[in-house]
This record gives sequence, C-alpha cells and structure tokens, in this order.
Amino acid sequence: HPPGLQMQGIPPLRLENCRAKGGAPGFKVAILGAAGGIGQPLSLLMKMNPLVSVLHLYDVVNSPGVTADVSHMDTGAVVRGFLGAPQLENALTGMDIVIIPAGVPRKPGMTRDDLFKINAGIVRTLCEGVAKCCPNAIVNLISNPVNSTVPIAAEVFKKAGTYDPKRLLGVTTLDVVRANTFVAEVLGIDPREVDVPVIGGHSGITILPLLSQVKPASSFTSEEIDYLTNRIQNGGTEVVEAKAGTGSATLSMAYAAAKFANSCLTGLKGDAGVVECAFVASQVTELPFFATKVRLGRGGAEEIFPIGPLNEYERVGLEKAKKELAGSIEKGVSFIRK
Ligand code: NAD
Ligand code: LMR
Repeated sequence: HPPGLQMQGIPPLRLENCRAKGGAPGFKVAILGAAGGIGQPLSLLMKMNPLVSVLHLYDVVNSPGVTADVSHMDTGAVVRGFLGAPQLENALTGMDIVIIPAGVPRKPGMTRDDLFKINAGIVRTLCEGVAKCCPNAIVNLISNPVNSTVPIAAEVFKKAGTYDPKRLLGVTTLDVVRANTFVAEVLGIDPREVDVPVIGGHSGITILPLLSQVKPASSFTSEEIDYLTNRIQNGGTEVVEAKAGTGSATLSMAYAAAKFANSCLTGLKGDAGVVECAFVASQVTELPFFATKVRLGRGGAEEIFPIGPLNEYERVGLEKAKKELAGSIEKGVSFIRK
C-alpha cells in the first residue's frame, strides 16, 4: 500500500497510472487543514480540478471521514488521507502544490493578529515539513494573519536552506473576489467581467483596492469609493459577525483558494499570461513582502507587476497600509529569528 490512511479491503493504488484529464500526468496537491471549514469545500473543489491527479488530505482530526467522502467522487484525482503529525511527511512527499488553510479562525471582536499566538506555531511546523519533504512545492498560504504567516514561512524555509521566494504565495484572492463582487453590484454588471486589483496585505487597512484601475474602466463617486473601500477592507469581519461566533469565511474562501490554486496549476503547466494578486516577497515597495498582481508560471510567481498609477485617495491609503504591514511582517520574522 502507498502511505496514507488505508481502508480495509481496498487494493493497492496503481499510482503510476494516475493521470489528469486528457492523459496528462497531472499535478499532486496537498491540503493541510483539510477537515476544517475551508479545508472541506476546498478538498471538494480540488477533487473536481482536471489538472489534479493526486490529492492528499491532511489534518490533525477528522481527515479519514473527509477523505472517504471526497474520494467517492468520480472525478480524476486519486484521494488519500493523512491523520496527525506522524503522517505529515507522507502527506507532503512528492507534492507539486501545498495549500495551507490550517489554524484557528476569528470570532467577533477579534483581529486577525489575535490569531498569531496559535497559528504562527502551526504554520512553522507545517512549513518545516514542506522544507523537508517537498522543498520545490509551491505553497499557497491561507492561515491568518497572512501578513505575518508568510514572513514566518519564508524564515522557516531560509533556515532550512530551501527558500525560493517565487514559490511562497500568501493567498489574497478572497479580497479580489469580494472587490469584483461589490464593484459589479455598484456598476450593475456581471462580476465575471470585473477586474479589481487589490494590493498591500490581507488585513483591514492593509487591503487596498485600486478602484482607479478597475476593468472595465469605470468612474466612481466619492461616496461609492468610501463605501467600496470600507466594504472590501472589512469583508472578512462582515462574515465573522454574521456567523456570530461559529467561524469566518469558509465557502467563499474555498472558492477563492480553488481559483488561486487553479491559476498556480495552469502556470505550472506552462500556460502564458496567468495573472493573480498575491502576497509575496517583493521589491515594488520598501517592504520585504507586498501583494500586487503577479504572473504565475512554471517557477511560481515569475514576475511581480508594479503597483501602477494611483490617485491621491489611494496614495494616502498606501502609506497607511505600509505602516501597519511593516509591523506585521516584522512580527512574523522575529517569531522565527528570536
Ligand atoms: P477551521 O477551524 O474550521 O479549520 C481549521 C482546520 O485546521 C481544522 O480542521 C483543524 O483541525 C486544522 N488544524 C489545526 N492545527 C493543525 C495542524 N497543526 N496541522 C493540520 N491541520 C491543523 O478554520 P477555517 O475556517 O478553515 O480557517 C482556517 C484558517 O484560514 C484561519 O486561520 C482563518 O483565519 C484563515 N482564513 C484565511 C483567509 C484568507 O483570505 N487568507 C480567509 C478565510 C480564513
Ligand atoms: C477573511 O478575509 O474572510 C479571512 O481573512 C478571515 C477573517 O478572519 O476575516
């Protein structure tokens, strides 16, 4: 039997025969935190992705049930489950992409930074596993606070000697998904036709939608700009409050994570012109990490696009965002260095 959870009476998998749609070799994807609120629907969506040939579902609880359930879908990917720390290495070995939604979510009244205490250690342990078992994998980091967990992951990889900044991506797609939706509502058009760049980071005022760069080109009143900026920056809190103590965004996040992972896979496959916003190591500002549009290719984030022209409202927002981001990045870095 290959490693992973085994169910009685199931014959060994002929993994060498696993293929993506159309006979292509396909990619191997692991989800760490697969039994969680994001992890479960994300597992479902990745099982439906025709570019995935092998899907590893890892969690510290409940991964056997999620694995059994998702594995019955008659889509291409072979699904294997992994439970608890002793199985982490088997979950990670050979993976092309590792998606990490492991960690605690917010409750009303909390900031994302309040999650640092618990999630920083979780992300460190999981990234140590990545460095050891699949150092060339592209990492999609979802666990909050993203503004600090991405610097934590970078420091772990540096320590292990495996750091490739192009392969470490903080997932900010949900901010773009929300921005596209809210802007489309204001404009009265289909959100699928809207493209709003969202730069900076993934928390409060560090989330900076660039409404001056919206496609299709649109103009907004100052009331609309205030409303849209506030709603996009507080979209996560809107869901946390509506869920009233039972968690934060899971379904829209799973959608966003699946969209982003699909772009990473499409880039890995060699398609040209795959562009997404992501929080990455960057030189577009004086900060070591910053979210902008990036071009995804075989090597991960192969090109980082500049911010582009800003209006005065956005310039003010950028200065505020950078101030807060600097502290969050430093907090992540010193968690590992100290
Ligand atoms: P959840 O509590 O429903 O699920 C988290 C899962 O992680 C649980 O199944 C838990 O068992 C698992 N887990 C805990 N420690 C683990 C470990 N050491 N190894 C593997 N798995 C472990 O939470 P959720 O709603 O799925 O949210 C997960 C994280 O994603 C939170 O930190 C949340 O803030 C964050 N989040 C980020 C974004 C974003 O845009 N980047 C959006 C939504 C949520
Ligand atoms: C979100 O933006 O929905 C996530 O970061 C979860 C949260 O805590 O808001």
